[in-house]
Amino acid sequence: MSLTLCNLHFTKRPEKTIYLSNALIKNFQLTGKKNIHIRLGKNRIPVLLKTVKKNGKHIYLTSAVRSAIQVPNNGGILIKSVEGDEVQLGPLIGILSDGPLSATKPFGSRTGFVKQLLKAGNQKSYTFGFTPRDIDWSNESVYGYFLNDSGGFVRRHVPLPDVVYNRLPSRRSDFSHATNQIRDRFERKNIPFFNWSFFNKSDIYKLIEDDQTVNGYVPESHLDPSMDLIKEMLERHQIVYYKPSSGSLGQGIFRLTYLPSRGYFCRYRKASGNVLLRFKTFKGLSRMLQTRLGSQAHDYVAQQGIRLVEIDRCPIDFRFHMHKNGKNEWVVVGIGAKKAGRGSITTHIKNGGSLMTPEQALSKAFGSRSSEVLQKSKEVAIKLAEAIEFHHKHVLGEIGFDLGIDQEEHVWMFEANAKPGRSIFRHPLLRTEGKASVEHILDHCLYLSQFHRREDT
Ligand SMILES: Nc1ncnc2c1ncn2[C@@H]1O[C@H](COP(=O)(O)OP(=O)(O)O)[C@@H](O)[C@H]1O
Ligand SMILES: [Mg+2]
Repeated sequence: MSLTLCNLHFTKRPEKTIYLSNALIKNFQLTGKKNIHIRLGKNRIPVLLKTVKKNGKHIYLTSAVRSAIQVPNNGGILIKSVEGDEVQLGPLIGILSDGPLSATKPFGSRTGFVKQLLKAGNQKSYTFGFTPRDIDWSNESVYGYFLNDSGGFVRRHVPLPDVVYNRLPSRRSDFSHATNQIRDRFERKNIPFFNWSFFNKSDIYKLIEDDQTVNGYVPESHLDPSMDLIKEMLERHQIVYYKPSSGSLGQGIFRLTYLPSRGYFCRYRKASGNVLLRFKTFKGLSRMLQTRLGSQAHDYVAQQGIRLVEIDRCPIDFRFHMHKNGKNEWVVVGIGAKKAGRGSITTHIKNGGSLMTPEQALSKAFGSRSSEVLQKSKEVAIKLAEAIEFHHKHVLGEIGFDLGIDQEEHVWMFEANAKPGRSIFRHPLLRTEGKASVEHILDHCLYLSQFHRREDT
């Protein structure tokens, strides 16, 4: 296989011919060949090959060829030749998301992020956004959202993508029957689809509980624990986090503590603020939890509470934004340190938390040991990502970890997010990492669609 970046042009001629500049003919060893195939996605047609005298790497497509294989636009694009008689344009990178019916914001609050991906992706691929409604399975095509020169959307019919980056916004839509069908269909067509779906906390803990390379980084966790088990965990750990397995944003989390001399305490967040309740006996605490949760308790996990390091007496933890790079290796691309708001049991910014760079936070918490602690936690994050991917059945390309570090410098994983939010990248000192994150997503798309650039291009 030979792969290179070229400049694609359209001509108005009617015949099914493609014109390649000498550099491309040489690059693909097509000298003397007259009949080849051109392909975009699964669209493939026979064409006549002609040479055009022009310096550099150029390809010209006639109107007939353009419409037959549904090429969305001209400009820089990767082209590869497979076994000497086919040239393939691409890749077609589809960003799957959803939102209200709207010409300008079809992906709701994610529209800005989708546009960022399209802008960066269009330097070397055909990157477009689409929603489940835009797929036409009978014609194997998608009515995608492309970016025009002025930064707005333009719709184009293109073949099914070569790779799909899944950013469906809600658990409800991600786990619906319709979405399951979409995933199955892409899988049956051998079109890589990542990330597969939202993670469930307890599924992830289970996935790696027997993996000795990483299970020491996960606090003891039990799905749908009995009240007796919670009591026993409180005796052993003094702190227990009781949290919804499929929750997010800190919603529905209870922090339980036991002080033998004073009894049981429960902290949680209500719309009106942070709440602290005290119970003399465990029975009082368990009755309150059972009344509040009812059958929702089946989705709850009781987890050993970790005493996080603190700054100004407020706990801090970290978001590690992990990506697969173009060589299919896990890398830490951005880290946000989150300091809990006063009295808050989580570090979410929405609950009064604040965001810092890891260097700022770790130097305050660990002084001269901070760079060593940072290095070690990066290694742990990579090990965790590798383990989750190894035990997971589907393709992964991105994970957002919520990691804590205790006084003894031990790293703990609280949660793995399959569709991590991007709020850490709004920090002025983390914008470069935000751009790198976008580049990594696209590089991984190139890798998965087998359009990864080699050194020889
Ligand atoms: N076992 C724990 N020990 C200490 N703090 C925890 C624990 N579990 C969660 N937290 C705190 O609560 C926050 C939210 O928990 P997380 O598991 O990430 O749930 P969510 O899905 O709501 O984000 C974490 O970022 C951390 O600050
Ligand atoms: Mg979290």
